[in-house]
Amino acid sequence: MARARGSERFSTSNSQEWDSAKVGHSESRYGPDQNEVSSGGTVPAAENCNTMDPSASGPDRSERRRLRGGATTPTAILAAEHDLIFDVVQALEAGLDRSAKIDRSVWENAVGFLRSFGAQHHAKENIVLLAALERRGIPATERTLRAMVEEHEEEAALLDTLAQTLAELASERSDAAVRFRQAARAYAAHLRTHMEHEARHLFPMAERELSAEDERDVLHRFLLFRHATDGEDEYERLLALASQIRRQA
Ligand SMILES: [Fe+2]
Ligand SMILES: [Fe+2]
Repeated sequence: MARARGSERFSTSNSQEWDSAKVGHSESRYGPDQNEVSSGGTVPAAENCNTMDPSASGPDRSERRRLRGGATTPTAILAAEHDLIFDVVQALEAGLDRSAKIDRSVWENAVGFLRSFGAQHHAKENIVLLAALERRGIPATERTLRAMVEEHEEEAALLDTLAQTLAELASERSDAAVRFRQAARAYAAHLRTHMEHEARHLFPMAERELSAEDERDVLHRFLLFRHATDGEDEYERLLALASQIRRQA
């Protein structure tokens, strides 16, 4: 079924223009394959999601705003989160381009945002979406799903390096600023590539394979997962932090 979804910024409609050389080696991970991977995590039970129905009244204000704004499917919500992350990273990179001075407090906030918001976003993909696709007969060993999990692990390692080089800015290391800038560029490049991969491969797979009922179930689990972990207040805090970082970067 043809439904309009996803991020325009990472639209799959321009896939013919998409050059695998731009996104590096990891594109070759995508496609039909049956190698092994473990997704990990626990899927929230749908029966516990009855009070999380996005069409009903309830506590989840930000998600409702997104749904009112048109993000009514799992991939539309994930794409909206990509856009939010992309905007933060783009502002941070623009700050690096603009000034030789590195504002450590802004970057400390950024690392905190990217860790926390990224963890929520990855959980939606690694646990909830992956399980829904498994229920439709696509194993976690399928190439696109395996690549997604691997890229999330790489992203976490790059973010660790970014945090480490950020801490080193306070040290006497003469090359601390150069190392930090390299780490920031590497993280941003990986993130952009990963989001493009998901827009090109993962989201179309989900839109193709999941029924409308599956999608409602995934939406319920997204909401349940948030309430079971960090809660709505934390989500709102992260949205506000993203705006603050974009203003200050
Ligand atoms: Fe992802
Ligand atoms: Fe994603």
